[in-house]
Amino acid sequence: MAKTYPLGVDVGGSGIKGAPVDLDTGEFAAERLRIDTPKESTPDAVADVIAQIVDHFKDETKGQPIGVTLPAVITHGIVRTAANIDSSWIGTNIDELLSERLGHPVTVLNDADAAGVAELHYGAARNADGLVVMTTLGTGIGTALLNEGALVRNSELGHLEIDGHDAERKAADSARDRDDLSWQEWAQRLQRYYSHVEDLLWPDLIVVGGGVSKKADKFLPLLHLRAPIVAAQLQNAAGIVGAAWQATNHPSSGAQAKSS
Ligand code: BGC
Repeated sequence: MAKTYPLGVDVGGSGIKGAPVDLDTGEFAAERLRIDTPKESTPDAVADVIAQIVDHFKDETKGQPIGVTLPAVITHGIVRTAANIDSSWIGTNIDELLSERLGHPVTVLNDADAAGVAELHYGAARNADGLVVMTTLGTGIGTALLNEGALVRNSELGHLEIDGHDAERKAADSARDRDDLSWQEWAQRLQRYYSHVEDLLWPDLIVVGGGVSKKADKFLPLLHLRAPIVAAQLQNAAGIVGAAWQATNHPSSGAQAKSS
């Protein structure tokens, strides 16, 4: 029988991407599929797209867990916030909705948490001791806290209030575009942000992800922090890989109950 793999699905504001993941290597086991996020990104519309992705990989993932990321806080299977997706997500029991819709146990987690888990096991934070703060710089700032190798879920340090502003509004990559900032100007904002995070948490390592981390050499050398600050290594695979890892190793309780 052909080998099967867990499926990771990463739900973002513009695209929904999925692939089976080989957890021995942290690499995709088949080519990734991307479908545009529906204009009205309601839970039902997004669930339909996820169902298409699940169907597309049904042979490669037969009987395997499914992990899904959302740009949202999720506690006990309930969506609590919604960034860049329809506000009707708030209050949705997402574990239940997706498990029923897909006829499969599903584990759902925050997008930055998934990226952090992927970096911890396969990327820039591999074998890291102590506290790692993962940040994703994109439309917003997502964060993941990884303490002694364990994810502390749902940190929302992108929304720290700094100088009277929601930090992500000033320091996310979207702020660099919106305000037409040079790398130097943006780095000043990042310096303010990361120093504040560092003063609160004293991490041992800071990892910077998000699309802009491809250009880390333009801004990371301009930052001066106590902890080493390094670029993420999995780039845009991190969400998918982390979702598949989490679904396999820490399935949500609903997913566990249904699969046993
Ligand atoms: C949200 C986080 C999310 C991050 C990246 C923030 O605005 O509050 O939950 O992880 O954006 O998508």
